[in-house]
Amino acid sequence: MSRSSWFRRGYMSKIARLLGKEDPKKQNFPILEGHPVGQQHAQETVDSHHTVERNVRKLTKEFRIYRWSPDNPHQKPYLQSYHIDLSNCGPMVLDVLQKIKAEDDSSLAYRRSCREGICGSCAMNIDGTNTVACLKPIDADTSKPTIITPLPHMYVIKDLVVDLTNFYNQYRSIEPWLKTTKLPEDGREFRQSPADRKKLDGLYECILCACCSASCPSYWWNPEEFLGPAPLLHAYRWIADSRDEFADERLEALTEDDKRLYRCRTIENCRVTCPKSLNPAAAINKMKIRHLLSIPVEWRSRNKLLIVKSRVTWQI
Ligand code: SF4
Ligand code: SF4
Ligand code: FES
Repeated sequence: MSRSSWFRRGYMSKIARLLGKEDPKKQNFPILEGHPVGQQHAQETVDSHHTVERNVRKLTKEFRIYRWSPDNPHQKPYLQSYHIDLSNCGPMVLDVLQKIKAEDDSSLAYRRSCREGICGSCAMNIDGTNTVACLKPIDADTSKPTIITPLPHMYVIKDLVVDLTNFYNQYRSIEPWLKTTKLPEDGREFRQSPADRKKLDGLYECILCACCSASCPSYWWNPEEFLGPAPLLHAYRWIADSRDEFADERLEALTEDDKRLYRCRTIENCRVTCPKSLNPAAAINKMKIRHLLSIPVEWRSRNKLLIVKSRVTWQI
């Protein structure tokens, strides 16, 4: 066995330890003091990490990231290039942003919290698709750069951070909580059969990342009047809930005008982009059908335009 492979397998450091000639690189693990097995295990882990680092070929990829700061309001937004060594970085795009912020440029602004697709904070546009950065694997093709920009058609606060005030206000407007007139039968909780609970699958998982709303052309042009896919998905989540007693009132509030719900043109960008694989368009269609079936036939024929717009005529 060659000397280098002895090194690679960590045998040299083991022999040095046996001979009492400690490797000068040997780490001190004060937290493991008094636990020789633990110290040995930690040292082996460090050795093996160094070995991997030595063996993995350096792989550099360019990331172009949208930059704009309110501190320089007259400077136009631009894409700033960062060259990242992928052999020394986690697998997701959020890992790249963390690495840039920690090692290259602490002025880069973006949101993140859970780093596992639960909080919805890290939504942004990566190579043309709205998604959450912590669930988006890095494109390993190093011949082309990855382009990262904020969610489209949103006001930018700084770099990748957008203003979601309108989005959250619209979410609040659908009253996203259980509404009942009675107290629970057992005085403790509102119960639901497994079959009724199952009807909420595909609805309750939404993390309010806003990827869908920011990809919806109808929302781009009518962000004030049209509620957009995410709040509408949540509206249907409560309409479909067997414990809620205000489904009709909720639907009435959504259809008071022809914009809040009916501005959806069933383009389905929302379904395509959702990082949680949800389908707001289907929920919106179910509400349209429920509403159209609830109104008198004469009214429906007088308002043909509205019905045609909804693209669910075949359901009536
Ligand atoms: S429906 Fe999907 S894309 Fe839209 S806010 Fe919820 S999780 Fe995000
Ligand atoms: S289906 Fe409706 S809500 Fe979804 S992207 Fe299209 S227009 Fe927007
Ligand atoms: S950090 Fe929470 S969804 Fe990405």
